[in-house]
Amino acid sequence: MNKNSLLRIRDLSKDELMGILEDAQGFEVLHKDWQLPESKLVANLFFEPSTRTHYSFASAELQLGCKVEDFAASGSSVEKGETLYDTVKTFESIGYEAVVIRHKKDEYFTELDNINIPILNAGDGAGNHPTQCLLDLLTIYQEFGRFEGIKLAIIGDISHSRVAASNKEAMELLGGECVFSGPKEWQREGWPYMPVDEAVRWADAVMMLRIQKERHDSAMSMSDSEYLAHYGLTKERAAAMKEHAIIMHPAPVNRNVEIDTDLVEAPNSRIFKQMSNGVLVRKAVIKRAFGIKGF
Ligand code: NCD
Repeated sequence: MNKNSLLRIRDLSKDELMGILEDAQGFEVLHKDWQLPESKLVANLFFEPSTRTHYSFASAELQLGCKVEDFAASGSSVEKGETLYDTVKTFESIGYEAVVIRHKKDEYFTELDNINIPILNAGDGAGNHPTQCLLDLLTIYQEFGRFEGIKLAIIGDISHSRVAASNKEAMELLGGECVFSGPKEWQREGWPYMPVDEAVRWADAVMMLRIQKERHDSAMSMSDSEYLAHYGLTKERAAAMKEHAIIMHPAPVNRNVEIDTDLVEAPNSRIFKQMSNGVLVRKAVIKRAFGIKGF
């Protein structure tokens, strides 16, 4: 495995993580037009649906001067039964210099030890989503200027969320506090729980999550409006947030299910800011993937 791969938050030291955020912030203004010293060939392999992660990786790659190829699993030899390992090894063999991978299997990368080019994890099942976590962290840092003592409430379908898992690891590393809320049956064992009204009042950042229907065995018994009333961010709940607190969501948003549609672009919502920050952190992890320190 290439040491410049990014697979999980827990593989990073605090210094490495802060270094990525610093580079990402650098890309916002000072080094907006910075490009790799030589163009690299990068493939984006998305085996699960994606809009933001996929196209913000592509945007970052193109802005850095990479040549980019998007892989479509349908129409490829995956349909003939080829394994993930053989697919990725093929990309390496035909000249690609890094791959971005999203796959439904938890920790799919454990099968990819013999791949030598950097792998950037764009989400593995309900396991990890390191670049989403980094963009969440950048958004929090821009707002509060620190992580120590920052209170993050993550609310919704926790058990199926790779975003929740990566953010928990990050906040533990950085000295923030994280609590989880939403339906009791969707919590993870041993993780700190708070009822939703209490969590919303407690937090500096309220992160709402989509119900990961594709990872559920059976359909939800509650209607959308019942879910919103019981567990969603309604206008009434939002009014009880701390004055300085922000609303976050990794998106895609299901309006009027986990969040009232009017809150998506409320003045204290950072949902679209998170997306812009996604390009900055992805530029930073691609730069790191090619072993480039500083600008
Ligand atoms: C998340 C994901 O795919 O894990 N979305 C994203 O990457 N922006 C969350 C989700 O799908 O609900």
